Amino acid sequence: MRFGIVVTDPSDWTARAIASGLERCGAEAVYLNFSELSAPVGAGLRLEADGSDLFGLDGLVVRDLGRSGAVDVAFRFEALCVLQELGLPIVNPPQAISRAANKFATSIALHQSGVPHPRTLVTTSLSAATEFVARHRRAVSKPLFGYKGRGLALLTPEDPSHLREVLAKSGVVYLQEFLESSAPSPRDIRTFVVGGRVAGAIYRVAPPGSWISNLARGGAPVRCPLTPEIEDLALRAAAAVGTVYSGVDLLETSGGLSVLEVNGTPSGWGVFQAWGIDVGEMIASAVLRIAEGSL
Ligand SMILES: Nc1ncnc2c1ncn2[C@@H]1O[C@H](COP(=O)(O)OP(=O)(O)O)[C@@H](O)[C@H]1O
Ligand SMILES: [Mg+2]
Repeated sequence: MRFGIVVTDPSDWTARAIASGLERCGAEAVYLNFSELSAPVGAGLRLEADGSDLFGLDGLVVRDLGRSGAVDVAFRFEALCVLQELGLPIVNPPQAISRAANKFATSIALHQSGVPHPRTLVTTSLSAATEFVARHRRAVSKPLFGYKGRGLALLTPEDPSHLREVLAKSGVVYLQEFLESSAPSPRDIRTFVVGGRVAGAIYRVAPPGSWISNLARGGAPVRCPLTPEIEDLALRAAAAVGTVYSGVDLLETSGGLSVLEVNGTPSGWGVFQAWGIDVGEMIASAVLRIAEGSL
């Protein structure tokens, strides 16, 4: 069997781990850069990336769709949807990638599944946003399609200028109550879920003076032992968003764990660094089972 791995940087650790996992299972893996994606539509329909005919594959694993703007992301995403409609197994399914990328959609999915999630307001209204920050005293503003801890701000009622700026720039603001970590210093828990199992978890300890714990923002990966509560919430959150593999972020609070978000194209590097757990092999085996119709 031959699988495509959609990735921009072929030296990406997770993409390489998935490719090695597929090869160890006797399958072939080919890297596909969606910045080299074409769809000639005419007498027939083709989809090609990096010279490969995507209809000739047995499945796709999406590690990184590549981004530049909303319009070309819509093209890349639509290509995935077409491939899926024509029967190609895609991991993660396009709907799950889209739900995970859009923090509003994730919040709704978590809420509908009864997964604990901080109180959140998504609004186009300055007065509603101002009222939310006043009520919670401390609120986090996040880009609706944010990642890697970028563009986050901690807001207080004393400084309303950030809300005006975000609304003027984006037209919508995603606000969340700030949850005080019950840990000795701010950290979150990143769990890695594959095929209905939790592969492992790490604490990401925020750097001194910061409350943002993403590894890309200086967070340090530290082993986090699994507990029944962590496993239960991570699995329920992953299922709510519909992912086959995902990174689920949780916060420890005095009232228990709260799920912040589900990442639909997560890196497996942190859990490998801390535990030596190779999620590539697990993702490869899940993809093969899906392609064979047994998952
Ligand atoms: N409501 C919150 N209360 C406290 N800390 C938060 C909250 N939301 C996010 N954080 C911190 O910021 C980090 C990034 O937030 P997250 O929602 O996961 O966005 P991103 O997609 O950028 O990773 C979290 O891992 C956590 O450390
Ligand atoms: Mg996160």
